Amino acid sequence: MAPIPKRGTVAVTGAAGFLGGWTVRLLLDRGYRVRACVRDVDDPSRTAFLKAMPGYASGRLTLHAADLDRDGCYDEIFRGCHGVAHIAHVSTYEDQAYVARVCDHIIRSVEASGSVTRVVLTSSIAAVISEADIYEVARRPVFYEDRYPDESNPKRTPDRGQGYSMGKLHAERAFADAAESSGRWDAITCCPGDNVGPILSAHQKDMGPWQHNIETMLLGKYLQNGAYRPWMTVDVRDDALAHIGLLESTEVANGERFIAWSTDMRRVEDI
Ligand SMILES: NC(=O)c1ccc[n+]([C@@H]2O[C@H](COP(=O)([O-])OP(=O)(O)OC[C@H]3O[C@@H](n4cnc5c(N)ncnc54)[C@H](OP(=O)(O)O)[C@@H]3O)[C@@H](O)[C@H]2O)c1
Repeated sequence: MAPIPKRGTVAVTGAAGFLGGWTVRLLLDRGYRVRACVRDVDDPSRTAFLKAMPGYASGRLTLHAADLDRDGCYDEIFRGCHGVAHIAHVSTYEDQAYVARVCDHIIRSVEASGSVTRVVLTSSIAAVISEADIYEVARRPVFYEDRYPDESNPKRTPDRGQGYSMGKLHAERAFADAAESSGRWDAITCCPGDNVGPILSAHQKDMGPWQHNIETMLLGKYLQNGAYRPWMTVDVRDDALAHIGLLESTEVANGERFIAWSTDMRRVEDI
C-alpha cells in the first residue's frame, strides 16, 4: 500500500501525550499537515503547548476533540487524511472486550475515511516480552520483532497486570487483519521501549509511567511499577521519528512490527 505523500495530512491520536506531542511537532517540522486529536480541545493545561507550535496559526496544525470510547468520533477527522498515527492510550486495559471495541471504532473510521492508506499503531515492548513470568524472559532473552510473550502462560490475565500487554497484542492483530481484508490501507506496528526525554507540557510529568517516575525520583521517591526490571530506554524524539519513518516507508508491509528501543538497559538504581 502507498506510504503517505510528502507534506501530506496525518491525524495523530493521543496528541496531547508525551509521544503524541513529539510526533505532532516533528511531523510539522517535516512540512506535514497535522490533525491533532485530543479529548478536550479547550483544556489549556493539555493543549496550550500544541496551539503554540509553528503551524497552528497558519492552519497547518488543527486540533480536534475525539474520545476513542465514542464510535464514529474520528470519522470527520480522518476524512481526507493520508495517514494516521494511532498513539493514544485507551481508557483501561483491564477490560479486553472494551479494548477490542475501541480498536473497532478506530478501524471503522479509517475505513470510512476513504483516504487513509497507512496507519502506524503504537504498541509496546510489553507486547514483545511481557513481564508475566520473569523466568520466561531468562529462557528467551533475545528481543526481536517476531518475538511474542508466552500467550499460553496461565499467569497472563488482566487481573495479574497483563491487560496492557494483552490489549496491545489484540490491537496489533485487529488492525493488521482489518487492513488486509480492506486492501486499501495497511497497518504497521511500532513497539517502543521506555520513552525518556524532554516533556513538552507540564501535565505530561504526571503521565507515563516513565516520565512520572523521573518526576518522583527528582522528589526523592521511586515507586516501582510492575515487575522489577531495568529501563529499556528510547529517546521519545527518536520514537516519534520512528513513527514518521514508518508512515513514509516504501519498504514496510501490512502487519509488520518494529521495535523502537535504543538497546540501552539502565538499572533503576543507576537512573
Ligand atoms: N511512555 C512510554 O514509555 C511508552 C512505552 C511503550 C509504549 N508506549 C505507548 O505509547 C503511547 C503513548 O504513550 P505516552 O507515554 O505518550 O502516553 P501519555 O503521555 O499518557 O498520553 C496518552 C494520551 O492518550 C490519550 N487518551 C487516553 N485515553 C483516551 C481515550 N479514551 N480517547 C482518546 N484519547 C485517549 C490521552 O489524551 P488526552 O490528553 O487528550 O486526554 C493522552 O494524551 C501509548 O499507546 C503507550 O502504550 C509508551
